[in-house]
Amino acid sequence: MKTVAELLAARYGLLFAGHNVDLLERGLVRLADSLGLSLEVLCSRLATDDPKAELWQRLIGTVTVNETYLYRHPEQLQLVLQRLVPERLGTGQRSLRAWSAGCATGEEAYSLAMVMRYAAPGCEISVLGTDISEPALAVAQRGKYGPNSLREPIPPLLQQAYLLPTTDGSVEVSLSIRELVEFRRVNLIDPEHLATVPSGFDIIFCRNVLIYFTPEHSRQVLMMLRDHLADGGVLVLTALDQREKIPGLEPLVLDGVPVLRRSEPPRVPPLPSRREPPTATSASASSSQLRLSVLSIDLAERAAEVKAAADQGDLARATQLARRLLQSDRTPEALHLLAMILSEQGKHAEAEQLLLEALKSSPSYVLGHLSLGLLDRPQHQRWRGAQHLQTVITLLKQRADDEILHGPEPLQVAMARRLASAGLANLERRS
Ligand SMILES: C[S@@+](CC[C@H](N)C(=O)[O-])C[C@H]1O[C@@H](n2cnc3c(N)ncnc32)[C@H](O)[C@@H]1O
Repeated sequence: MKTVAELLAARYGLLFAGHNVDLLERGLVRLADSLGLSLEVLCSRLATDDPKAELWQRLIGTVTVNETYLYRHPEQLQLVLQRLVPERLGTGQRSLRAWSAGCATGEEAYSLAMVMRYAAPGCEISVLGTDISEPALAVAQRGKYGPNSLREPIPPLLQQAYLLPTTDGSVEVSLSIRELVEFRRVNLIDPEHLATVPSGFDIIFCRNVLIYFTPEHSRQVLMMLRDHLADGGVLVLTALDQREKIPGLEPLVLDGVPVLRRSEPPRVPPLPSRREPPTATSASASSSQLRLSVLSIDLAERAAEVKAAADQGDLARATQLARRLLQSDRTPEALHLLAMILSEQGKHAEAEQLLLEALKSSPSYVLGHLSLGLLDRPQHQRWRGAQHLQTVITLLKQRADDEILHGPEPLQVAMARRLASAGLANLERRS
């Protein structure tokens, strides 16, 4: 007969071993006490009981960690407000959907709804909040929160617009936000439950959930979440959540925040080998284009090292590696890579110089123009960014949507077009 820990892993993906086994033990003792059963009787009932039965629900309510609060990880919510929503709107999209997968008592789903409503006042917004814990979902439905949920400062504009103070010191989520959010019980590893969840989400938050999962289930859930994202949609985890490389989920750092963006696994056209003489077609390409593609095999490997350091948050090491790479390889892509790392650190002026150098030797380097267009600039210089974004759109006019543009982070043409349009819309709004 399987143990309760084995059943929790198989049915819910939850891993109880080593560091957190006492959480399970304490939960079982509490549940046994409340039912007036011995621990042995409770465990043998659970082992034979239907997973849908009340007893299992009670156990889940006892052994899951539902810790959460409003506006948790503010930098991720700021990213939604300032970048992800404007990017989607820039493509002409007028309805936005988000999923808070593992929402516990609902604060994450409401926080998402607040920033999305604020960033896109005239659009149709919907947020789905799901969890396996019924007691947690019951709290979420009420939408009323005490001081424990208010430990992170919430931007005053959001607080005033969407959180109503009550006489007992709690807050109530306004009706205008509550009607955007739907809560449902969904076990993230149960195909029957998942069949009820639509796909095509622009944003999925699944934060502080995969830390409790077995590695196999974590991988399975990541693949499932990828399949529920719209093309170009973004998945947000936290540093604690286990993540493996999943095809079609591209790790990116946006405004300093690591995210995973859904992209089709890139269909990179074969590159000419360094040892083979150039073919007729490559020989007829412009010399800068040829240089870019020939060098990208080697660069890709070394760039991966730089990006791994950046993804781990070690920007100092990423900078050092990128500078070293540049010493032996002053190609547009290598210049671009260092520029990306510097701009992550707010060193926009140096990043700009490197990108301008890249464009000098390769004027039609689309991703260089795109990065220059999206660089942060003082208001009186924003016209320069707009010029580069306009160049991206012009250069891509005749290119196929699914063509891959080479650079330190290869990008599909369709996505580059979208980013350029979103950037232009953003500059217009801010001028
Ligand atoms: C620590 S909370 C995270 C809440 C919120 N995402 C945040 O970061 O503030 C983890 C939640 O994951 C939920 N969870 C664990 N296993 C799950 C599963 N198999 N399916 C759905 N939710 C699950 C738990 O019930 C719990 O509410």
